[in-house]
Amino acid sequence: MAAISTDTLTSIVPADFARLSALVQDRCGIQLPETKRPMVEARLRKRLLQLGLNSFSDYWRLLFHPVHQAAELIPLTDALTTNKTDFLREPAHFALLEKTVLPALYAAGLGRRKPLRVWSAAASTGEEPYTLGMVLSEWGRTERSFDFSVLGTDISTQVLAQARQGTYSEAAIAPLPEAWRRAYLLRARTASAPAPFRIAPELRARVRFGQLNLMDDDYALPHRYAIIFCRNVMIYFNRKTQADVIRKLTHNLIPGGYLFVGHSESLQSHDLPLVTVAPSAYQWGSLQAGEEV
Ligand SMILES: C[S@@+](CC[C@H](N)C(=O)[O-])C[C@H]1O[C@@H](n2cnc3c(N)ncnc32)[C@H](O)[C@@H]1O
Repeated sequence: MAAISTDTLTSIVPADFARLSALVQDRCGIQLPETKRPMVEARLRKRLLQLGLNSFSDYWRLLFHPVHQAAELIPLTDALTTNKTDFLREPAHFALLEKTVLPALYAAGLGRRKPLRVWSAAASTGEEPYTLGMVLSEWGRTERSFDFSVLGTDISTQVLAQARQGTYSEAAIAPLPEAWRRAYLLRARTASAPAPFRIAPELRARVRFGQLNLMDDDYALPHRYAIIFCRNVMIYFNRKTQADVIRKLTHNLIPGGYLFVGHSESLQSHDLPLVTVAPSAYQWGSLQAGEEV
């Protein structure tokens, strides 16, 4: 094991920051350049306090311990991931789903006898997969036989617990139209609850969650998906990791399936077998009539 430097709770010395960055990049794909050091220190200080440790040196002993590392990687990941998300974030994607993507998929036979499968691959606290659930439910009002399911995955155990709970504050639900709030949210009886709105059970039943690290070699998912949302996570990855992740996501699409990435994550410069259908929305291959996957 490399020599452990002496430091205090207040700062991480450069050599230790480099070791930490290498570990986080290897396990989560997330790049931690020097400019992120103040953020990392602030977040890890909270972890040190939870553990009752007085210095980063003590923390490195735990984090780089051959036996204890696996367990500590979970709270480390929870501490270092950026989980910002919103209902209806980047709304152009949802308009495209409604106007173009869902009609095309349904016309090809998807969502008729088997559910149309949608995957939100960096689901954070659930706003994105539940928005997808709402958009698909709304679209299904006009096509009575339409059926769908949404899978939300993330690397962070903490955000997944919140997503499964499906409770949100008044501020969090603000982007949702009033009619959707009435249709898809229940209000807690105790008005003073910090997150007084809960996703209605019918929608929660269609949106499932699981842990998945986009760095895994094989995503080992039981199905291929007609629509994959992987938004606002690849900005934290380096170019090679981005290309690897996009390739693995594409392998999990049905022919003619759609991949959506964040608006600041254009795939234009990657050499990929994907056709651009709108800014940051791509299609892989072509749909076949009578498709059922
Ligand atoms: C900024 S949020 C984006 C949430 C949502 N997709 C959106 O656009 O609003 C990024 C999410 O990616 C997750 N994440 C980071 N690295 C990951 C990895 N290697 N595998 C899976 N999820 C990861 C984080 O835990 C976080 O919840």
